[in-house]
Formats: sequence, structure tokens, C-alpha cells
Amino acid sequence: MLINKIISTFFSKKSKSQYKFAFILFEFVSKIYSRLTGLLEDILYKNKKYHESFNKSGIFKFEMAFNANSFIENAKKIRMDESLSIYCLKEEDIKKLINKVFDKKTQSLIFKKTGFRYSVDYMRIYENHHICETNQRFKIIREAHYDKSFSRNMLKIFIPLNVDLNSGPLKVSFINSPNLSKKYDDNSTNCSHVMGSGDLIYGVLPNLCWHQEGNPKVDSSAKQIMFQLNPSNRWEFREDLYLRQLKTENKFSSFSSFFFKKLHIN
Ligand SMILES: [Fe+2]
Repeated sequence: MLINKIISTFFSKKSKSQYKFAFILFEFVSKIYSRLTGLLEDILYKNKKYHESFNKSGIFKFEMAFNANSFIENAKKIRMDESLSIYCLKEEDIKKLINKVFDKKTQSLIFKKTGFRYSVDYMRIYENHHICETNQRFKIIREAHYDKSFSRNMLKIFIPLNVDLNSGPLKVSFINSPNLSKKYDDNSTNCSHVMGSGDLIYGVLPNLCWHQEGNPKVDSSAKQIMFQLNPSNRWEFREDLYLRQLKTENKFSSFSSFFFKKLHIN
């Protein structure tokens, strides 16, 4: 009977207040998940020597020894809609890319910043195109947000491939509070732009940072590689990454990815 009650609440004729209730409930569950999973990962995987330094800024950047643009030369470009293209790689090229990006040097730099080793649970190579501000979807796809239903330790790695200020770079604004109760300030000067030409790597805590994709100018675009990393006991990646390049990220990924086959990096 309880099930019927839940179904009738969420899947019958929904009033505005019911949607609002569902949204508040989702936010609440997401916050509990973020904190509980974060705590568990701190206990199981974190090297306490590197405590908190990164959590005070929410973003880091360093230079790589190679240019990642070479990896997408043979990628298949698929136009998803007017605002987005996705570049698909073959399975073996994904393995090569991951082993090259997360080599011993990068692993060490990230470990020293965060205190964690990671599992790469999702990746996407995408290109944002200009979209008219009057388009109904503009607000949704270019809205400032923080990633919900993920651990607070979930790390996103970005490698911008052709991104400058004209490309509408990803804007990241750290809020020095895990509850994000402070509202996003669009005009804040305390923010970073994720820009580069294939040789810079950025780490961002998207569960603790507001972030917003910009709108590229008409004759420009923003192409970048994004990896989603969750703390693990060793450096590894999900074997099925190549199958999910066109799909969106799984929610609650620290938990859900736990049950999939993973391959060791290097
Ligand atoms: Fe996001």
C-alpha cells in the first residue's frame, strides 16, 4: 500500500507543490548521500597526510607533458543537438588516452592534492556550440549548478582543447561551505575559467563548487575532455567507458560503479 501511495504521489496528476516536494526530497537524499559516501571514502581511501589543502580551493591546475588534441584527430564527431557535439573514441583509444593522461606523474600530483587514488567511472569528449539566448533550453543547459547525487569527494578532470574567453569557458566558483547554502553570485570575481589548448589539466570538486558552462560566441566553440573520478583503493577505470560516451553520467556513481568490472591504470 505504501508503494501505491508513493506512485500516486509522484506519477499521477502532479501539481506544482508535488513537484516541489519531490525536488526537495531529491536534494535532501543527495546531500545525505554526498556526506555519508564522503565520510566512508575518507575512512577507507584517504591518505590523511594530505588533509584539506585542496578542499579549501576546490580547483587545481597543472601542465601536462603532451597535447591531448592528438587523441581526438580520429574520433567520430556526433552532433547531438544545436548546442552540443560529442566525440566518440574506439575502446583501445580510450585505454591509451586514460593511460597517457593518468600516468605516474599525474597520479602523484593528484594524490598530493587530494589524498586519494581514483577510479575513472565516466568520460566524455564534448564540444559546446553557440545557442541563442531566446532558445527555451538556454537556461537549463547553461545554468549555474553544482553536481548533485555524488560524493563530496567526486573529482572532475577537465582538459580544455580549444577553449579561450570567446568559447564560453566553464566557470568554477568555490563556496567555502559544504552545504552550498550561499547563493551563486553570477558577478563574483572569485572564480576560475577552465581554458587551454590541450596541454592543461584541471581538477574540480563539482559537488562543492558552483559551475557554469558559458555560451560560445557565434563563430567559436568549447571543446574539452571530461573525466569523472571517484575515490578508490587503486588507480583504475571502468571497462565499459567506451559504451557510455553518448550517455549521461550515472547518478550516485561511487556506489553504482562499485559493481562493474574495472581495469588497472598502468
Ligand atoms: Fe555539473
